[in-house]
Amino acid sequence: MIELTTIADLRAWVRATRAAGTRIGLVPTMGALHEGHLSLVDAARAGSDAVVMSIFVNPTQFGAHEDLSRYPRDLARDRTLTAARGVDVLFVPSVGMMYPDGAEVRVVPGRVATRWEGEFRPGHFAGVLTIVAKLFHLTEPDGAWFGQKDFQQATLIRQMVRDLDFPLKVEVVPTVREQGGLALSSRNAFLSPADREQALGLSRALAAASDAYASGTRNAPALERIMRGGLAVHPGVAVEYIAVADPQTLEPVNEADDATVVLIAARVGSTRLIDNVILSKGL
Ligand code: PAJ
Repeated sequence: MIELTTIADLRAWVRATRAAGTRIGLVPTMGALHEGHLSLVDAARAGSDAVVMSIFVNPTQFGAHEDLSRYPRDLARDRTLTAARGVDVLFVPSVGMMYPDGAEVRVVPGRVATRWEGEFRPGHFAGVLTIVAKLFHLTEPDGAWFGQKDFQQATLIRQMVRDLDFPLKVEVVPTVREQGGLALSSRNAFLSPADREQALGLSRALAAASDAYASGTRNAPALERIMRGGLAVHPGVAVEYIAVADPQTLEPVNEADDATVVLIAARVGSTRLIDNVILSKGL
């Protein structure tokens, strides 16, 4: 594995690699890697000849009162994990490299960004799409791999690729979970043992909605009531939103069907967690 920190070095590698006809796969991350990130590497390796992973804690996607400064960072560990998993290039730029003084232009997301995460994290998706667009330009990948865990993010990236004509395929990989159901997340590192127990409420609520759907419940408010009922035994879970929504537009639906996505965001202690399930597929 080679590690690159400058745009010039990445571009030189990309030019040589593409000239050799090698298909490049990109896995953008913010580091503090876990098995969810590494499952994206596995999928990217299966679908490309060379895999680039970026590790960059992107300041423009964090709000003023969010956890940018305490976001977990462990590059030494990330290096070991990615090398063992077959990443070819680790791209680890500095903030100054990605946003030199005076960098002001942003990608403006569409309507999908105004809902759910967008309501609770204004400006978040403009930051995400801006950095992802930059990484696409720098890496010129044939495919890019993202997790279903960040469902709305993946939807917006697909939309950006379509609307701005990026010549690449966006692939979305299922959420990797702990045995109890908790979705892996870099932010789980902030959870105390008691918080972890509470945090199970999210995946349990989604599983309850999924089970109810499988047994015939289609009414969205009824599915939401079932979830909120289950969460009563998790008083440490402060729900920000529960959404039963169309997977493309993210608009709420009244009657669920086989592609409907159920999304949840909640605070557990000082940590904000998100999770989702596609109804027909279950967790
Ligand atoms: P980060 O939170 O580090 O996630 C990087 C990628 O890993 C995303 O595509 C995310 O959906 C995926 N991922 C996270 N947890 C997962 C899990 N449990 N199972 C499967 N995939 C999982 O998402 C970001 O970084 C940033 O917004 C980024 C796209 C890198 C732009 O800065």
